[in-house]
Amino acid sequence: KGERSEYVEVDDFEKQPNSEQKKWEAEQLASARFQFGAKDAKAEEEYELLLDDQIDFIQALTLDGSREKAAKETELTEKERKRMTLEETRRSLPVYPFKEDLIAAVREHQVLIIEGETGSGKTTQVPQYLVEAGFTADKKMIGCTQPRRVAAMSVAARVAEEMGVKLGNEVGYSIRFEDCTSDRTILKYMTDGTLHREFLSEPDLASYSVMIIDEAHERTLHTDILFGLVKDIARFRPELKLLISSATLDAEKFSAFFDDAPIFRIPGRRYPVDIFYTKAPEADYIDACCVSVLQIHATQPLGDILVFLTGQDEIETCQEVLQDRVKRLGSKIRELIVVPVYANLPSDMQAKIFEPTPPNARKVILATNIAETSLTIDNIIYVIDPGFAKQNNFNSRTGMESLMVVPISKASANQRAGRAGRTAPGKCFRLYTAWAYKHELEENTVPEICRINLGNAVLMLKALGINDLIHFDFLDPPPHETLVLALEQLYALGALNHHGELTKLGRRMAEFPVDPMMGKMLLASEKYKCSEEMVTIAAMLSVNSAIFYRPKDKIIHADTARKNFNHMHGDHLSLLQVYNQWAETDYSTQWCYENFIQYRSMKRARDVREQLVGLMQRVEIDMVSCLPETINVRKAATAGYFYHVARLSKGGNYKTIKHNQTVMIHPNSSLFEELPRWVLYHELVFTSKEFMRQVIEIESKWLLEVAPHYYKAKELEDSTNKKMPKGAGRAEMTQ
Ligand code: CDP
Ligand code: MG
Repeated sequence: KGERSEYVEVDDFEKQPNSEQKKWEAEQLASARFQFGAKDAKAEEEYELLLDDQIDFIQALTLDGSREKAAKETELTEKERKRMTLEETRRSLPVYPFKEDLIAAVREHQVLIIEGETGSGKTTQVPQYLVEAGFTADKKMIGCTQPRRVAAMSVAARVAEEMGVKLGNEVGYSIRFEDCTSDRTILKYMTDGTLHREFLSEPDLASYSVMIIDEAHERTLHTDILFGLVKDIARFRPELKLLISSATLDAEKFSAFFDDAPIFRIPGRRYPVDIFYTKAPEADYIDACCVSVLQIHATQPLGDILVFLTGQDEIETCQEVLQDRVKRLGSKIRELIVVPVYANLPSDMQAKIFEPTPPNARKVILATNIAETSLTIDNIIYVIDPGFAKQNNFNSRTGMESLMVVPISKASANQRAGRAGRTAPGKCFRLYTAWAYKHELEENTVPEICRINLGNAVLMLKALGINDLIHFDFLDPPPHETLVLALEQLYALGALNHHGELTKLGRRMAEFPVDPMMGKMLLASEKYKCSEEMVTIAAMLSVNSAIFYRPKDKIIHADTARKNFNHMHGDHLSLLQVYNQWAETDYSTQWCYENFIQYRSMKRARDVREQLVGLMQRVEIDMVSCLPETINVRKAATAGYFYHVARLSKGGNYKTIKHNQTVMIHPNSSLFEELPRWVLYHELVFTSKEFMRQVIEIESKWLLEVAPHYYKAKELEDSTNKKMPKGAGRAEMTQ
């Protein structure tokens, strides 16, 4: 079912008469979501008014003295803020008064835990203090890890500005597929995954004098593994300083892990946040978000709104809907500026997040989890929290990994609410009931290491020479069966031998900063003489969600354009066609525009591709092409992704081979209507069903060719010609 179907009525509406429009506008602003408390009697009253006569109300709103005053005040603080130099802003941060104490503490202790509310200046200030204190004196760097790439980039940009240097010189960042540092760099922000990889080339981190593991509370897989690695090197590099910095109350746990390292607490400043719940559960939280934003915009004093959504597609949908509705309301409401923030946001758009809101306007930021703690956005007064986040989950029983939208934890919900009270008292609107908060949300988010596939992590650790993973120093050890399964997978891929030691193939796979399956696929291209194609496909898959552009008013054109790229054997090949045709036009923007392709994503694919080509050279694989023949492309893909294979079963459903799970081809796939007998998928996405995304057709006999130690001929016999066992059909229906 199309996610956007419910907005169809908005299109229909265009043909309807004016009185209808008024009604629609009133409805848009009036669908009641929140009962304001006693404190908000006035707002509620206004809200009633809104129901009576929306247009009058909106006019009244602009005449209302108190609103004017609020607007003036905002304007003043705005001017104030502009007057404040960067230096003054720095001095106003909660960490500033503790600068000397902090430096002294770092001098005194090898490992220090820093705890402080989000926005206190841990990420941007502490590294600068250390530079000032001379920790980078003898050509050594200060490193600071971030769980998210956008955070690493934007924080580095901010710090470069504060220090008055060019980004990439003294202050730089390094993220997967992008290194923006130079010989002059003394302060380096990087993702935790990047540091993890740096261990491969520099196991003692000799170029660093201080390493800051920032946002430790996020407990990403890489951060968790870094804890064990840095703890170990701290033992034989006594002069290396380690800072573990965290926003929430996990400090004791970190301290205990690092042999009772002292905790440096930065006292927080926090204003009260009123929390509102919906009376009944929301069926459609995207719509609820849009309505709530407009409701706040119409009834609440000025101040920016932060909305937490689960991913880029939701953010784009919400942005479209909001912009559309605002356009319809025209001059009847104040200006509403909609700004998106998500992991793959192009860097030129990142700056928008931090631009001050113009006087008398309101900014609404549509963000993923990234705004929960990694990025601090000033002047947020209202938070809308639908209560969901996208999570990578791994089922160690079936070995299947999928991305799904899950309810957040209470700890997360409280972090989100906290974003509203940084600069003034705020309000948080939870799009779930108080009962759900109390009874349905878990206390804490389960650390990533306990819920995802460890294939990549295990490969990296093995490449670092850490063989005994069962006894690795984990803050929270992953489930035993997950570790075992990762070892089995790596064995099946040929990365480990039967003693669990890294093979030559495994060592080459570890060179690639990608999932082991993708690494294997790239290496297999050597044998199948299609390295050019596989590198392109790997690059395209890395940016897959946002290649095709589908504007609401041109859906038919966009879909037709997309169909032109469809390849009969599946999506990997379609992506390959898109890239190659684009390359033929000399990477033209115009071509992208005409074919409804996102230029930005293509540019990124091109960058990633270049990086991969470099890595292929490192493992000494020549770049050759097998085109126009494409069988080898599919074989090479199968050599990497042979776990991800499913066979057609009844009613257009598929069953995975080893675990007999029911899965379906994603409606966006070029094979959606083809239903080949055997398919290979790139990833599973769980929405209403378990969907396979990016699918190609394969032949079952290839599996015996590429993974003879994993598949037995018997498993791959085609059962479709055989009689189904009794009741099998029904069992399938109920699954
Ligand atoms: O790390 P922590 O949450 O303690 O704070 P921070 O990220 O160092 O943020 C300190 C201040 O810098 C906040 O007021 C942010 O809004 C501001 N900042 C900014 O203006 N632009 C950035 N790219 C990053 C931070
Ligand atoms: Mg921070």
